[in-house]
Amino acid sequence: MKIGLIGIGKIANYQMQAISHTKGISLVDAHDLDPVKVEELPGSVTFYDDLDALLKRSKADAFLVSTPTPTHFEVAMKVIEADRVAIVEKPLCISPAQEDALRTAAVTRKLPLYTAFHPSYGREVEWWVEQRAQKNFDLGRLLGFESCISDPYYLHGELSLGAVGKAGAWIDGGLSSLSILARLIDPSEMELVDGRMTSVPSLNCSEIQGLGIYRFMTDGQPGFGVVDTNWTLGKNHKMTRLWYENGNIELDHAREYARLVRRDGDELVFNLATDKPRLVNHYRGVFSNLTEMFEKGEDNQELSAKLHRLLFAANHPK
Ligand SMILES: NC(=O)c1ccc[n+]([C@@H]2O[C@H](COP(=O)([O-])OP(=O)(O)OC[C@H]3O[C@@H](n4cnc5c(N)ncnc54)[C@H](O)[C@@H]3O)[C@@H](O)[C@H]2O)c1
Repeated sequence: MKIGLIGIGKIANYQMQAISHTKGISLVDAHDLDPVKVEELPGSVTFYDDLDALLKRSKADAFLVSTPTPTHFEVAMKVIEADRVAIVEKPLCISPAQEDALRTAAVTRKLPLYTAFHPSYGREVEWWVEQRAQKNFDLGRLLGFESCISDPYYLHGELSLGAVGKAGAWIDGGLSSLSILARLIDPSEMELVDGRMTSVPSLNCSEIQGLGIYRFMTDGQPGFGVVDTNWTLGKNHKMTRLWYENGNIELDHAREYARLVRRDGDELVFNLATDKPRLVNHYRGVFSNLTEMFEKGEDNQELSAKLHRLLFAANHPK
């Protein structure tokens, strides 16, 4: 599968490393509004300073949209309107109206549309999904969860440089947590109970804090959980805690480890880090999944629509 990359920013470097470590996929072309970004590319990749030219001339099978989140809609729409396949960095876009327009445009042209949910391929997430599938540790039914995505992007009353390219704490972090949870809970079985957002009108972001309370069903029984996103805590903390009948597990997404505590107090710690940066590990999962789906002519629109519904329910109440 040949990829064209649109937006050569901070995350592109990890994406390019992951592509080079994944079988069956290669980067052929790239575009950025800033022509200096050509210097970040390997010599084998052709740089275009014009998006229309890229979409017209490139032999890529699909285009990965890695531009700042508020621009995903206009860039992805241009890709689709050129009758080309878009893979969009999560979130797909920033409102339900934009989402409807993108999905309608893709379906009308019979084009697949992918969303790249990189956090859901964290090593610690993959590991726990596998343990559950193999029925290891026998923790029983899931009762509840708490998933926190905290970045130090609001400091001394202002947004820090880390916030550049992001839309807001909830829009960016909420979907990370929801995509992780969807590996363990069927998202069709999740419903929003309440959403609470903190917006500051003088800041160029949709919110600096956002929380969603969810109800879910597993094995016919209800459970409850909280997704908590925050730019004001001054720390990088990314953790999902899951409470089961017979114990609980902590998945540390920033440090790639898991801590399991059985009900009798027995504690086990698993270090799942590799010699590669965690974001390279995430994108290796994204690209493996993408090439598999591409071969079968599938996309992840159904999952993506369910996750965006749960996301927007909290910050765009009806
Ligand atoms: N930085 C991270 O840790 C991280 C992690 C995962 C996902 N993401 C997501 O990846 C996306 C990009 O984030 P980033 O941190 O790399 O941003 P960035 O600001 O570092 O880079 C964005 C790049 O896109 C270019 N650009 C801006 N508008 C453009 C347009 N209309 N057309 C073409 N190029 C354009 C900019 O010149 C820049 O080079 C965002 O959606 C973000 O949420 C970021």
